[in-house]
Amino acid sequence: MTKKWWKEAVVYQIYPRSFMDSNGDGIGDLNGIISKLDYLKDLGVQVVWLCPVYQSPNDDNGYDISDYREIMNEFGTMQEWETLLSEMHRRGLKLIMDLVVNHTSDEHKWFVESQKSKDSPYRDYYIWRDGNGDAPPTEWQSYFSFDAWQYDETTKQYYLHLFSKKQPDLNWANPAVRAEVFDLMKFWLDKGIDGFRMDVINAIGKPNVFDGAYFVPDDRKTHEYLQEMNRKVLSKYPGIMTVGETPGVTPQTAALFTDERREELNMVFHFEHMGVEGDKYSLNRFRLTDLKRILSKWQTELGENAWNSLYLNNHDQPRMVSRFGNDGEYRVQSAKMLATMLHTMQGTPYIYQGEEIGMTNVPFSSLDDYRDIETLNWAKESRLQGKTDEELLLVANRKSRDNARTPMQWSNAQNAGFTAGTPWISVNPNYPEINVESDLRNPDSILNYYKKLIQLRGQYDVIVYGDFKEYFTESEQVYCYTRTLGNEKLQVFLNFTAEPVVLPLPQELIPEKANPLLSNYAGQPEVKSGQLNLRPYEALVYYCELA
Ligand code: GLC
Ligand code: CA
Repeated sequence: MTKKWWKEAVVYQIYPRSFMDSNGDGIGDLNGIISKLDYLKDLGVQVVWLCPVYQSPNDDNGYDISDYREIMNEFGTMQEWETLLSEMHRRGLKLIMDLVVNHTSDEHKWFVESQKSKDSPYRDYYIWRDGNGDAPPTEWQSYFSFDAWQYDETTKQYYLHLFSKKQPDLNWANPAVRAEVFDLMKFWLDKGIDGFRMDVINAIGKPNVFDGAYFVPDDRKTHEYLQEMNRKVLSKYPGIMTVGETPGVTPQTAALFTDERREELNMVFHFEHMGVEGDKYSLNRFRLTDLKRILSKWQTELGENAWNSLYLNNHDQPRMVSRFGNDGEYRVQSAKMLATMLHTMQGTPYIYQGEEIGMTNVPFSSLDDYRDIETLNWAKESRLQGKTDEELLLVANRKSRDNARTPMQWSNAQNAGFTAGTPWISVNPNYPEINVESDLRNPDSILNYYKKLIQLRGQYDVIVYGDFKEYFTESEQVYCYTRTLGNEKLQVFLNFTAEPVVLPLPQELIPEKANPLLSNYAGQPEVKSGQLNLRPYEALVYYCELA
């Protein structure tokens, strides 16, 4: 396995709208981020992934870009962005920017031109089709509910939008589109950024024939486009990192995007574990054996030449502690337990803002509190299908993306110290208890535990590069695995339940002879005569050097 800086790094994801507001308009901004760089440095992360900060009408909070070379007015100016970058570099932090090029905003000048006539030189920048009689060209549904096609009066054709109708899909088959994208990538790389996170990048390969009940990407094309991108752009900036967002991939298809010999991407985000409850809007609690099967498979099946990214939440998912842990009595223990898992697997861990203090899902009491277009469209469509607002609220409070988008909780001051004005989305009412200031003061806080995890990663190669082996695969209570590198061995025990668990230890797992490296409980772990007693949500990590 080759050594790379981005394999050894921990990434922190910032959703700028909700991170820190510096001027009291209720919206997070670049100066707000600058004011928190010391906090990030102190946390110990090496990389920041900044969600989109480009000019945008904000139909989807910046994922609908109207100008790739300008900063969103609400977030600040290009000069402030330059300051952000240099202040980050001064502290040894790297910056990766979000590259959203499966689609643009319908207010982007390319689309405005494209819409004007069938002969526009920009027509072919997007995907236009005749209808099927009175119906859209295909039955495809958008990921944000309703049709994936929008009829346009001017030319009496439909355009494709896999997301909202204000996010028309670019036509990557057109070499002019690819040239534009490569150009704008160079624009940012030349400013000195350290890489890109690429939004839904496996959707850029559109099939030759449009049919079927839903959109199925053509990976062969995406591979071609990415290899071209590599030749023309990425390879010219050695040392940068890339991570692609790729819903639907398996370890085998992900390896095609990330195998270093193929020269496409460094790593991808897969979504298998995000589907562990089945349907996206399911209220079921996951089964531990399902979660473990998925995560362990990715540990062992991706192969020697590819690399994992590790995450349990982001700006599109509910909060990790509410979903996979316990956001009541065992919030602190379970948040630390989940963090232990993420930071002791093979791959690059991503921390989503607020995760490091155990922020939870929102207890909104009305659908009116929601802002996310995906949630709002889904509610609209579900109402048409006869669902009551009560039912919808229950689901939204568990699954909406807004669970992750409430303002960062900095302190117990008004609005959690996020803004002096009115926040664009309500603050989670638990901020007096859950906030950065109180976690900084408390040596046993979740935040301080994250710092420890990040430090350990820097000290032990086995955490980064070690091979993975799982034990007790059938257990619905405990996730247990080892990592091995040369003569170094790590043993990890994670109790996923609110009950104590007694674990009989096989010969190879003998914690008595190993040194406890980390635990989320105070005092010594309970090991006696071949068995380990794990307390509720206990996480234990042992380290030993083999003879
Ligand atoms: C990605 C982003 C998500 C966005 C969508 C459309 O999934 O993470 O926030 O809504 O793409 O750009
Ligand atoms: Ca602001």
